Amino acid sequence: MMSASPSPSSARGTSAAKAARGERARPIYVVNGPNLNMLGEREPEHYGRTSLAEIEAELSACAKAKNVALVFFQSNEEGRLIDCIQDAAQNARALIINAGAYTHSSVALLDALKLLSVPVVEVHLSNIFAREAFRQHSYISPAASGVICGFGAAGYRMALNAILAQTDMPQTGMPQTRIKDTAP
Ligand code: DQA
Repeated sequence: MMSASPSPSSARGTSAAKAARGERARPIYVVNGPNLNMLGEREPEHYGRTSLAEIEAELSACAKAKNVALVFFQSNEEGRLIDCIQDAAQNARALIINAGAYTHSSVALLDALKLLSVPVVEVHLSNIFAREAFRQHSYISPAASGVICGFGAAGYRMALNAILAQTDMPQTGMPQTRIKDTAP
């Protein structure tokens, strides 16, 4: 039974603990950029044979087991990705992003990611540092808490676990959500 007045050793019931629990109830956004909708078919020697739908299903199962809500978003358009990141700045507890080729070109994505005050984990399936020179620079890394690359589809799960390890909190009954990209 929970005591009405918490013991001094417990933070439960304090306004700080309530605020922390409210923050944890927010979803983690999982954002994928251009051409990542083609995972599974696209250059499997670099990106493997797992589709984005399979990655999202696996992440959902993982998040569900930890009672964490996820919001999935993929777009091939920079502006739509920025809109999603701005939305995350208001609503997310953390954000996982594979910006695809925009990683290597987009100051606009960097600026959007700087709006977030919550953890941002940059993911790449391939080891971008072992590839062409133009892939070895990321414009968005300065806005990331950390970068995971080279572990294929498992990188997304690693990113989720890294966020949970950092922010560490089991939740209850969180829905899994998807933002619909209304692009034709
Ligand atoms: C990628 C690496 C990028 O260089 C490339 O443009 C992608 C995928 C990766 O996941 O390894 O689209 O972000």
